[in-house]
Amino acid sequence: MQLENEFVIMDKELVIKYQEYESVSELDVVDRELMQRAVEAAEGAYAPYSGFHVGAALRLKDGTIVIGSNQENVAYPSGLCAERTAVFAASAQRPDYRDYEALAIVGRNAEGKLCEASPCGACRQVLSEYEHLQHHPLRVICYLEGGRVRVFPSVVTLLPFSFEF
Ligand code: THU
Repeated sequence: MQLENEFVIMDKELVIKYQEYESVSELDVVDRELMQRAVEAAEGAYAPYSGFHVGAALRLKDGTIVIGSNQENVAYPSGLCAERTAVFAASAQRPDYRDYEALAIVGRNAEGKLCEASPCGACRQVLSEYEHLQHHPLRVICYLEGGRVRVFPSVVTLLPFSFEF
């Protein structure tokens, strides 16, 4: 369809704020523990096809931690990322308490080295819906190469203008 008289009224700019830390040890104690749980969670990954193991640890408002890891399948699209495994498990186990404070994510490559795992688009969409439900931010804490850490203060910073219904 041809839109007539279409013109740009004004360029807009989006600024995304996030934090980076030089080391996991700079995080506060609860986030440090969460990242440690994500590292442990990666042990549960089933990733024979990619060889890339991902661990995720989700902290609920009451301090409960629910973990997830990537689960692959020979029918590739049937597998699931660590982040969605964790958040879906939490939602299924505590449907009366969908109150999520922070999610830590870490990858482990085929050589066994810890590395960055940034949530994929589908995971961002899923996380975004739970964040909308709870009306407060869900922080996302990503491990980076060399032990640094990136903290997104909310899922909105990872997926602005997300689809809502
Ligand atoms: N993967 C995750 O579990 N989370 C991410 O943030 C990125 C990718 C998984 C999917 C697949 O099993 C493997 O990593 C390689 O893409």
